[in-house]
Amino acid sequence: MRSILLSLSLVLPVHATAEEALALDPSLVQAGAGHFADSCASCHGAEAGGSSAPDIRGAIPSEVARAARGMDQMPPVALDAGQAEAIGAWLMSLDPDVARIKLDFEAARAR
Ligand code: HEC
Repeated sequence: MRSILLSLSLVLPVHATAEEALALDPSLVQAGAGHFADSCASCHGAEAGGSSAPDIRGAIPSEVARAARGMDQMPPVALDAGQAEAIGAWLMSLDPDVARIKLDFEAARAR
């Protein structure tokens, strides 16, 4: 688990604070919405609020990258780091309060 997080931090930018990470670039958010519609909405719902797969509003980029490698019930989805970052930006924009808690937790673990 630790080595997965470490290798993720090499791929995804590590933001100094949750506030910095949540100062989202609107064009990145918009790109993420498009990638989500293409690759994720069929299971997670058009607004990420859940369908055959769970509600993932507020998920952060590292969670997107991890899930895309495949999980118990979720098949792997081919995403590059930029797409994972963009989808994460869109999901964070849908529930910034949840995203802030996750980012703070991730930062605390990395310390
Ligand atoms: C074929 C259906 C399917 C597709 C397509 C899909 N997912 Fe999932 N996803 C699931 C299911 C089912 C789960 C529930 C967790 C599991 O696998 O047991 C899940 C779980 C997740 C989780 C939660 C992981 C956690 O920590 O619990 C995230 C985040 C996620 N998916 C993101 C995505 C993203 C982003 C995409 C598009 C790139 C995507 N999923 C596409 C079915 C799907």
